[in-house]
Amino acid sequence: MSSFSYSDHNDKLTNLLISQNYDGKYWGRSEDRVLAEGKAFISEKFGHDALKTLHMLDLGCGMGRLIPEFAAMFGDVTALEPDEERCNEAKKLVETTPVANARVFHSLLSEYLDGQTETPCFDVVLCSHIFQHFTHETMFGIWKDLKRCTHKNTVFLFTTTYISDDVNQYSAEGFEGEERVSLVVDLEGFDKAVADDRYLAVCRFARPWMEARMAEYGLTVRKFSCYHFFGETNAENDGYNTLDPEKRKLARDAFYLCEWADQTETGTEDRQEEPMVSGKITFMQYYYLNNEKSDASRLPPQDAAENAVGLKRKVLEDFATVEGFLYGAGLHFPAKRYVIDNLHIEK
Ligand SMILES: C[S@@+](CC[C@H](N)C(=O)[O-])C[C@H]1O[C@@H](n2cnc3c(N)ncnc32)[C@H](O)[C@@H]1O
Repeated sequence: MSSFSYSDHNDKLTNLLISQNYDGKYWGRSEDRVLAEGKAFISEKFGHDALKTLHMLDLGCGMGRLIPEFAAMFGDVTALEPDEERCNEAKKLVETTPVANARVFHSLLSEYLDGQTETPCFDVVLCSHIFQHFTHETMFGIWKDLKRCTHKNTVFLFTTTYISDDVNQYSAEGFEGEERVSLVVDLEGFDKAVADDRYLAVCRFARPWMEARMAEYGLTVRKFSCYHFFGETNAENDGYNTLDPEKRKLARDAFYLCEWADQTETGTEDRQEEPMVSGKITFMQYYYLNNEKSDASRLPPQDAAENAVGLKRKVLEDFATVEGFLYGAGLHFPAKRYVIDNLHIEK
């Protein structure tokens, strides 16, 4: 059983950060919006009728605030929380709300899996605002453990911090009297703060770093959105803000919807189905990557692997722009995009 204690007791530091810097209603709606994006993806992928058969893992559930809404959607929810006090709050919440299909355990993921006679297999994994508070090694360990308890079609909903930069920013947060203070530290200072109960260690993740690390562990990002924009009051603007490099600088958090990469590499059966086309509007976006190597070399001179990830991200951002354009223009139907690989065009 985990003896871990989360240093932000009753989320006091986090609540101060929100109340001092953001519009409270916007904060909630902004998160609802990205979670709705995740739910829509899952519903489309598995089919609406199958949702009640899906098993979800809410890892690091805290006081369980997100359990009821996901339990209402899926077949069952297994929630793990390593801090005993917070875990007990989550258990109470589950007992006092009409949630019959959620179970909360006081455990780390590795401990939980080791203790099971039959390894569970989750269809959906939620990690809501946990990665930024522990060492990167712990995060990599979790990604490895997730491989043990998921399948090739599992959908991962990861929300965490964001910084619009190429490098992560680390800080140690705490109180001076009643005042919330945040000290910028280096990676070593961050690791020390993780181990020190007096501080809440916070890493703000740079997207290129995060995506490169995810790729190393076999995860690929299918959707990315920024949210919790400083100075914003309308969550409807978050989509546009994500596409604007200047506005992105104001985002506190990011949503990464991921799947295992080898699903696409093997070109699974699920993707063999004939596309169904209906409606009266056709929209086509044409991309031609002239020369991957030379395009990659124009990106910031980091190592080759990072460049490849950077190039892929640039292309995916273009696709996100297209999606934003379609939805943003007020069209009230879903639009599908099909990418045709290796299209050879004769001159
Ligand atoms: C900011 S809270 C987020 C709680 C909840 N997911 C939410 O969105 O409200 C971070 C949580 O991560 C938990 N945590 C810390 N280390 C963890 C680990 N190694 N594995 C899983 N959760 C962890 C903490 O105990 C804490 O409850």
